[in-house]
Amino acid sequence: MDLALYRKYRPKSFKEVVGQEHIVKSLQGALELGKISHAYLFIGPRGTGKTTMARLLAKTLNCEKKDANGKEPCNICFICKEFNEGRNLDLTEIDAASNRGIDEIRNLRESVRFGPTHSYYKVYIIDEVHQLTDAAFNALLKTLEEPPSHAIFILASTEPQKIPETISSRTQQFNFRNLTQSQILEKLNRVAKAEKLNIDDDGLKVVALSGHGSLRDAESNLGKLISFGSKKITLAEVEDLLGFIPLKSFYDFTGLLILGKREEAVSFISNLYDQGLDLEEFSKSFIDYLRKLLISNLNPATLINFAGYNQEETRLVLSQAKILTKEQIVRLVKIFMRAKEEMKISPIQQLPLELAVLEYFEN
Ligand SMILES: Nc1ncnc2c1ncn2[C@@H]1O[C@H](COP(=O)(O)OP(=O)(O)O)[C@@H](O)[C@H]1O
Ligand SMILES: [Mg+2]
Ligand SMILES: [Zn+2]
Repeated sequence: MDLALYRKYRPKSFKEVVGQEHIVKSLQGALELGKISHAYLFIGPRGTGKTTMARLLAKTLNCEKKDANGKEPCNICFICKEFNEGRNLDLTEIDAASNRGIDEIRNLRESVRFGPTHSYYKVYIIDEVHQLTDAAFNALLKTLEEPPSHAIFILASTEPQKIPETISSRTQQFNFRNLTQSQILEKLNRVAKAEKLNIDDDGLKVVALSGHGSLRDAESNLGKLISFGSKKITLAEVEDLLGFIPLKSFYDFTGLLILGKREEAVSFISNLYDQGLDLEEFSKSFIDYLRKLLISNLNPATLINFAGYNQEETRLVLSQAKILTKEQIVRLVKIFMRAKEEMKISPIQQLPLELAVLEYFEN
């Protein structure tokens, strides 16, 4: 396959977007009323639809024959076609992460003065905008202070706290949320069907979970499974291929911590490493497990809300949530979150986790 799944299935209209209902509703309302801001700020974690929504907005604004009272692009006019093929000249995308942007913003300031070639609006999408240098921010600010009426800026960022207030205060801000497992599953089901992928329902659920809230990551993982061909992909194969760690592993590991089995807990980590498991992935999922312990510790009834757990798994979580105190769980979360960060710079991948175990037993 030549096109990454997540590119191939990027929503072409607002109705294909899953989740982010508050944003879709608000943008469509603005489109319907023609009340468009000159600058938007899309904030949120990776793979949740920021770029998708920015391009959708740009396309719909410029579409020649909008549908549904102007709320959807037609996807047939030549403007929509240009957008869908990524060759509309009035859309400029700048990635502030790959170059800190000063030349790009300078070019932007030049080009923004001229009207669009054949669209209604010139749209500038600036991705990872928090990465711009101070000089680039200042240049951008000048443009945002007096935007030409034909220009629209859509800034996107995963780290809003790094954006100067002078910039963000001139934008209309939308907060994108991590997608839930069932929202991700909804889209994966569509993709799997379109790709005629033969996969267990349970397997697809695991793929959805593997995205940790990011649809892009889940779709990338689904892409990895496609190479399996037409035969039925089982849950076990999905787990194996994605290096999925079953909940029972976290239960066992936590059990060793509860029982004070220091050496066993340390060798549990080395065993994972020897099995070729991605320890960063393990830490991420373990922190997720701890969070579930914490929430059920505070109120056991809330665990029912965690999609994707079977009865046995729910039982395991509840039993440990009762044994540990809230303080112990919080401490574990803090220790293991730090370990996960340290893993990025550690020359030995498993070391931060081993140290985390020792630290937990220190008092
Ligand atoms: N809310 C969503 N609904 C449907 N697909 C989505 C959504 N968010 C992400 N995706 C999928 O993930 C891919 C990457 O999304 P993107 O909008 O580029 O994420 P972001 O810019 O937030 O990192 C899209 O091409 C699409 O396939
Ligand atoms: Mg993006
Ligand atoms: Zn159109």
